[in-house]
Amino acid sequence: MSPSGSGPEERYTAAPFVGGAGLDGLRRAAADCRGCPLHRDATRTVFGAGSADARVMLVGEQPGDQEDREGRPFVGPAGRLLDRAPAEAGLDPADAYVTNAVEHFKFARAEPRKRRIHKAPSRRETTACGPWLAAEPALVQPELIVVLGATAGKALLGSSFRVGEVRGTVLEREIRGRPERLVPTVHPSSVLRARNEDREAAYEGLVADLRIAAHVLG
Ligand code: URA
Repeated sequence: MSPSGSGPEERYTAAPFVGGAGLDGLRRAAADCRGCPLHRDATRTVFGAGSADARVMLVGEQPGDQEDREGRPFVGPAGRLLDRAPAEAGLDPADAYVTNAVEHFKFARAEPRKRRIHKAPSRRETTACGPWLAAEPALVQPELIVVLGATAGKALLGSSFRVGEVRGTVLEREIRGRPERLVPTVHPSSVLRARNEDREAAYEGLVADLRIAAHVLG
């Protein structure tokens, strides 16, 4: 890890680790990221996946247990939903690149050997990972970014981001020097967490937001 300073105020950042040529070079560099303490307990960096020419980039929160084991984003339960919903909304999976605001799995264990339980990344950790989230769109150059939930929203659009206020709308913002078009929506895990009787409506809401994204892409 290369924090500047020390103690509770030390700044975590991935910046010194970002490098390499093209997306493959960036992926290799990310594998060695020690920009914040999350790398210590996670199995590996889970870098983005998809075509380097993707027209749309979907940004989630952080890898989960299964993603941490397999080394690919969105391969667990939320990922299965994310396979279905964009296709239903008319987004071609071949046109999509999927990544996360944070590239290491953060978790707690109630007891040793017990199941790893997802913990939300802190603002400090998402800020530390920001250089990866700047580098991926700069290389892929998507026409549109789909923001999946609050962590991705705050990482990309700032701490005042509220998904309920802007979901399903098209935002145009300059982010780290690049003009971006973004469509925020809920994180697929929130659909999975919805009560049984609310789940279908939550899923339809996600698909409706993704239809806006598909419409923007034309
Ligand atoms: N949730 C995320 O935000 N990203 C993943 O890769 C998996 C689950």
